[in-house]
Amino acid sequence: MAFNRKDSYYQQAKREGKRSRAAYKIEELDQRFKVFKKGQKILELGAAPGGWMEYIAQRVGVSGIVLGLDLLAIAQLPSPPCKTLIADILDPTTGDRIDALLPPPLDGAVSDLAPNLTGIKATDQANSIAILEKALLLVKERLAPGGFFICKVFQGDELKSFQLQLKSCFSQVTLAKPKSSRRTSAEIYLVATGYDGSSKRQ
Ligand SMILES: C[S@@+](CC[C@H](N)C(=O)[O-])C[C@H]1O[C@@H](n2cnc3c(N)ncnc32)[C@H](O)[C@@H]1O
Repeated sequence: MAFNRKDSYYQQAKREGKRSRAAYKIEELDQRFKVFKKGQKILELGAAPGGWMEYIAQRVGVSGIVLGLDLLAIAQLPSPPCKTLIADILDPTTGDRIDALLPPPLDGAVSDLAPNLTGIKATDQANSIAILEKALLLVKERLAPGGFFICKVFQGDELKSFQLQLKSCFSQVTLAKPKSSRRTSAEIYLVATGYDGSSKRQ
């Protein structure tokens, strides 16, 4: 099937003035798993250009906080509840910078991180695993017991072992492919709820 960047979700996003078609994915996941609530503190990893943040901001409301972190700048969003941070999740100082803007414990975290692809399969896979594992570490240290983590993974060797890592500290872990995610894309989402609090630092 030919890749159609301007599919119906792209057109819909344009019509509705959304920053990215990605917003429909988090909306679908939320409708199914009912994770977001008013007043929550949420961290988003890999948040540019801010499509998910726009959706989450409206769900957590002005009494909540959503901190979006990315290598790239994110154009202005309503504050409160939005805050942004330009950072590399692999940088050892990033955890402290997150805490300064969004002190733990957090109610939930989401990651739509996608590494820049080199085209060399082994390198791309290694980069993808490195950022996923770092994301999980950052999240586990900050999440409140009972909290949730939703993250994008790519179907392949990394999926099974990452799923097992999540199962060791969340009571429920479900794989989900939103309708708005292109069928031709290897991306899939893991929705982990009921964090056991085993790695929290706070
Ligand atoms: C698919 S986009 C996120 C889209 C976003 N959820 C939205 O709704 O607009 C993936 C993002 O991951 C970011 N990213 C990749 N590697 C990263 C890293 N090491 N640290 C921080 N962000 C990273 C990229 O810059 C990119 O903006």
